Amino acid sequence: MNLNVGVIRGDGIGPEIVAEAVKVLNKIGEVYGHTYTFKELLLGGASIDVHGIPLTEETIEEAKKCDAVLMGSIGGDPQTSPWYKLEPSKRPEAGLLKIRKELNLFANLRPAVLYDELRGACPLKEEITEGGFDMMIMRELTGGLYFGDRKTVEEDGVLTAYDSLTYNENEIRRIAKRAFDIAMKRRGKVTSVDKANVLDSSRLWRKVVEEVAEDYPEAALKHMLVDNCAMQLVKDPKQFDVILTENMFGDILSDEASMVTGSIGMLASASLNETKFGLYEPSGGSAPDIAGKGIANPIAAILSAAMMLRFSFDLDKEADAIEAAVNKVLKDGYRTIDIMSEGKTQVNTMQIGDLICERIA
Ligand code: IPM
Ligand code: MG
Repeated sequence: MNLNVGVIRGDGIGPEIVAEAVKVLNKIGEVYGHTYTFKELLLGGASIDVHGIPLTEETIEEAKKCDAVLMGSIGGDPQTSPWYKLEPSKRPEAGLLKIRKELNLFANLRPAVLYDELRGACPLKEEITEGGFDMMIMRELTGGLYFGDRKTVEEDGVLTAYDSLTYNENEIRRIAKRAFDIAMKRRGKVTSVDKANVLDSSRLWRKVVEEVAEDYPEAALKHMLVDNCAMQLVKDPKQFDVILTENMFGDILSDEASMVTGSIGMLASASLNETKFGLYEPSGGSAPDIAGKGIANPIAAILSAAMMLRFSFDLDKEADAIEAAVNKVLKDGYRTIDIMSEGKTQVNTMQIGDLICERIA
């Protein structure tokens, strides 16, 4: 089949890791007989440099015409990059939030898996990681604090900032349904994370999630407060199957979950709407400190490409082949610097991409 894919290389390490993901996709094309139409799209700092804004209407329209979009990362170093001298709504991150909203990408799937081979890179004690762990964070992506009204005003001579956290029941219901659907294909456990002891939005969250759970009698639902969840992720990560949570909590918990797998450079993600369309990106950031050095770990981007094949194109066999090749490369002892440990072979971004391609046959 021909796959119509938008490509956002983005900023920092984005272009380097996307190049490897595209390389792997091309290899899949050769082996399984698929072709691609890649459409280059600008987002974030790369778009600011050309158009003065992080996301143009034209890019939104072009993205909508694609079946899926593969993305690297956006943003620079806030201390040094000129992009951060612009007003907040013109900075790179604003472009990312806008594309998520415009494309209605409300369901963000962030799988956090501890690879057996990478147990050494995991900062947790061995008795905790024994047997590995495999969780899916389902983060609501188009509501909550990220998209509520905000303002900074002077009140009685005192500067005061407001950010509002709003969720309606429909927004909660659709992400909860997605989480249960996904849980049913896994181990059937949903841990819904909120702050219902304090927030109204969380109390509504809990109520709606419970209603949705009634349609999934075979699933096991558990509620957990977000502070407790942060603790449980390092105390006993094995207990989690699907973690369902709102936007801000999901942002924080997914970084934490990625770190306990050894490196944020390993974590893929998919942002989906009600259709087959998805935006696929590593969970990690643009890492401007290592950009251009050829040392970034492209595995998160490569695994994001695998998620794209699986979710947007139903190409499960091809997605499996990529995941197996990544596993094999790790088994064969190859590591980028972020996951390097004694006795392994350190390779750079392009080399690990090549090694993964060689293992797809
Ligand atoms: C993420 C990132 C973004 C977010 C930033 C870059 C706006 O941290 O995708 O997790 O907070 O959603
Ligand atoms: Mg984040």
